[in-house]
Amino acid sequence: MSEKSSIVTSNQIGVHKDLESKIKKHLANPFRKPYRPFSAEIFYKANEIINNLKLPIILDSGCGTGESSYILSQQHPDALVIGIDKSEKRLEKFISDDNFYDKDNLILIRADVIDIWRMIKQSNWNIHKHYLLYPNPWPKKDQLKRRWHGHPVFPEMLGLCDCIELRTNWRIYAEEFLVALRMITSKEVLLSSIEINQFISPFEKKYYESGHELYRVTTA
Ligand SMILES: C[S@@+](CC[C@H](N)C(=O)[O-])C[C@H]1O[C@@H](n2cnc3c(N)ncnc32)[C@H](O)[C@@H]1O
Repeated sequence: MSEKSSIVTSNQIGVHKDLESKIKKHLANPFRKPYRPFSAEIFYKANEIINNLKLPIILDSGCGTGESSYILSQQHPDALVIGIDKSEKRLEKFISDDNFYDKDNLILIRADVIDIWRMIKQSNWNIHKHYLLYPNPWPKKDQLKRRWHGHPVFPEMLGLCDCIELRTNWRIYAEEFLVALRMITSKEVLLSSIEINQFISPFEKKYYESGHELYRVTTA
C-alpha cells in the first residue's frame, strides 16, 4: 500500500438527517437475519478455544490483514486478541486454508461480523475492548445503511462490550458514530483527533502518510 490515498469526499455535509430515525427503527425491530452455516461453523471453532482459555478478549472487527490484531496481541500479552475479517485476500498473510489462525494470544477468523457479532453476544464472551479500525466509509448519502451505525446489527454490536474504539479518516463518520452511540449507550462518548506516534493498522499508516486528519470515537 504505497500509493497516496484520496481524502473522503461525499454529497453529505454533516450528520445524515435520517440517522436518528434509522437507529430508532433498528432499536424497535431487532435484526433477525439467519446466520449462514459457514459463519456458525467457524464461530463454534473459536468458541471452544475461548471457553477453554478464559482470558479477557480484545476484539478487532474488520481487521483487514490482521496486522492490527497482531500489534494488539503484542501490546496486551494477558489478553486474547481476536481479529475478524471477511476478506480471504486481506487475511492471506496469516491464514492459508481453513479460515482460522490460532497462535499464542492471537486468533484470526475469516468470517462476516454481521453473523459473528450476534453469535458472540449470545455466548457472553468476556470482551474488554472492541476496536473498529478504519471501516469502509460508504460516504454517499444513500449509503448510510452500509455504515456500521446505520446497519440493523448496530444495537446488537454495541451489546458486546461497553468499551469501544472506532477510528476513521472521515470526520462525518466519526460524528455520526458519536451521535449513534449517545442514543444507545449511557456511557460517556468522546470524539478526538488522533496524535500518531505508532501506527496500529495498515490503513492508519496509509491515511496518515497521505496527510489525512484521523479521528477516534471512544466510550469512557
Ligand atoms: C478499510 S478496511 C480496514 C482494515 C483494517 N482495519 C485497517 O485499519 O487496516 C475495512 C475492512 O473491513 C472488512 N469488512 C467489511 N465488512 C465486513 C464484514 N461484514 N465482516 C467482516 N469484515 C468486514 C473488509 O474486508 C476490510 O478488510
